[in-house]
Amino acid sequence: MQITKAVVPAGGRGTRLYPVTKSQPKEMLPLGTKPTIQGVAEEVVAAGISDILIITGDAKRAVEDHFDPGNGLSAEDVGGRTRPLFDYSRVKFYYSRQGKPRGLGDAVLCGERFVGEEHFIVALGDCLITGPEPAGPLRRMVAAHIECEADISIIVQQVDAEATKRYGIVRPGADMGAHAFAMEDIIEKPGPARAPSRYAVAARYIFSPAIFQYLAELTPGVGSEMQLTDAIRQMVADGHRALAVPLEASERRLDVGNFTGYSKAFFRTMLTHEEYGEGLRSYAAKLLAHLRDPTNPDPDLPADP
Ligand code: G1P
Repeated sequence: MQITKAVVPAGGRGTRLYPVTKSQPKEMLPLGTKPTIQGVAEEVVAAGISDILIITGDAKRAVEDHFDPGNGLSAEDVGGRTRPLFDYSRVKFYYSRQGKPRGLGDAVLCGERFVGEEHFIVALGDCLITGPEPAGPLRRMVAAHIECEADISIIVQQVDAEATKRYGIVRPGADMGAHAFAMEDIIEKPGPARAPSRYAVAARYIFSPAIFQYLAELTPGVGSEMQLTDAIRQMVADGHRALAVPLEASERRLDVGNFTGYSKAFFRTMLTHEEYGEGLRSYAAKLLAHLRDPTNPDPDLPADP
């Protein structure tokens, strides 16, 4: 089996980032020197994907413009600093509008026709997974999914007990080798008292097309939204084979869904940036010293007044 299609939900309204998201998509916020969703597309392409369906909605046109090869400045306009984002003869982008955002389950259901009879990746458009290997976690998940003949695979990360109220949390089962363990159950945003573990869903999934029947039968769940997690839970209860693939110690999920997450993600990507990182680390160290003790020089004032 080969996995060549990805569905990228990007229809959410970004309410936690208002007013930044009043007229622009949160997925276009930069991490490092590129929009978040470009990093997501690069990640799935590095994992072997050639067809990407982005689920958009209100105020999301900038996403389509961004991936349009005919749009934007030419290389000469910006002093040779740009080239096409992708090899567009190999990677194709498609778009579908979710209409009213009714939850992640409903967004993925919009991909039914695009996916057809194939297994496919779901990569949330407002999160990046970074690490030493480009798309390392996604590639591990694809390999485990194929090797274990799974119907569902999910990348998971360990979180604090308190944070279990913000994520889907999985109940781990037997070790399956191939850097994966079986997933016996999953609960959306259970909180510490009900959480079956501290393994949280980390924005990347693979599904067999069987998921669509479960999505079509969903009723509103947490937050009155159609929850992808609830469809997965029912699939697992019906005996579909499910895997969880944990992030390794050197890998991180960077989330742009709220101001704290976005700020941390932006700091990390800039402070580790190949070109800008070194200068910014030095600036940040001086700024922190100044903020701790204002008698230390402010790095935004001339050093030789
Ligand atoms: C969604 C999913 C949740 C998952 C999270 C991060 O929640 O419903 O299960 O853990 O993404 O991947 P949201 O952040 O949209 O509330």
